[in-house]
Amino acid sequence: MLILGIETSCDETAVAVVKDGRDILSNIIATQYEVHSQYGGIVPELASRRHMENLPVVVAEALKTAGLTVAEIDLFAVTRGPGLLGALLVGLSAAKGMAWALRKPLVPVHHIHGHILAAGFTQELAWPFLCLVASGGHTSLYRVESPARISEISSTRDDAAGEAFDKVAKMLGLGFPGGPAVEKEAEKGNPASFDFPVPQVRGDKLAFSFSGLKTAVRNAINDSTAKADVAASFQRAAVTAMVSKTIAAAEQLYLPFIVLAGGVACNGELRKRMKEAADKKGMRVVWPEPVLCTDNGAMIAAAGYYLFRDNPDNPAFAEFKMLDAEANLPL
Ligand code: KG4
Ligand code: ZN
Repeated sequence: MLILGIETSCDETAVAVVKDGRDILSNIIATQYEVHSQYGGIVPELASRRHMENLPVVVAEALKTAGLTVAEIDLFAVTRGPGLLGALLVGLSAAKGMAWALRKPLVPVHHIHGHILAAGFTQELAWPFLCLVASGGHTSLYRVESPARISEISSTRDDAAGEAFDKVAKMLGLGFPGGPAVEKEAEKGNPASFDFPVPQVRGDKLAFSFSGLKTAVRNAINDSTAKADVAASFQRAAVTAMVSKTIAAAEQLYLPFIVLAGGVACNGELRKRMKEAADKKGMRVVWPEPVLCTDNGAMIAAAGYYLFRDNPDNPAFAEFKMLDAEANLPL
């Protein structure tokens, strides 16, 4: 089965062609860094407009790279949310139009569902597993029973991890997007320079919180602080929070196979420290390659494939009926 996956929830216009949920035939991503970087963050209206310009080109490129025509696609998958409404609508409209014109099924996908399956492209996953999704909009732990059966264990009470990286980068004047910039700066710094608090949520050991850490960083910055030391100390505290909660959840739920997902899973320090902690407990941890950690169409195609495979008669997958039937979908 050939699936075309479309992702336009934020600032990446991304389209992929995937065979049977596993083989990536093409994975094209048009970023918008240059549009938003001058504003220090994503401007929703500009993102929608750029998706309008980019999407037809990216769809054509994805089909060309896969060596296919659109008529050969068996199923269309598209991010239904969460995300910027205007940006989502661009992808949804295009997917609806193609599915309707070709009389093919259209599967609306939760953005996080895609992230959770991304590591499966490059390695075998052991089910059920524990997944940490850390992105610009989410930081949550999930129990993943099968490719289409997922339940949330805990989540952030305020900011997402990636959002904290982005805000710290902004405070330090390191540019946008902030995650990779903070990681690079941190390499030159001493992580023990500042004793930033490792965020905890009273009464819920597995929940995340990053707003207090962000405030602590803001209060520590003055004219004489070294940016690299702040970046390294912040990264240490944020990574410690993610590692300790993930390992605690894996122990508590007897899920010794851990999958990292989302843009923050690109972070070398997070990967290294999660692996060290997992090794100590005899657990395994895997992550997607960087291009599949951040937003992409392949992960949406994979999630769409499994949702359809498990429930092909779901009325949500018939053209034009998807929005009123989405209550039947997991997540
Ligand atoms: O998954 P993603 O592409 O989009 C969302 O669904 O939000 O994640 C983007 C987030 C941004 O906040 C970005 O700063 C962060 O992932 N990120 C990183 C790194 N690379 C991307 N955070 C920390 N270290 C990185 N190397
Ligand atoms: Zn994402």
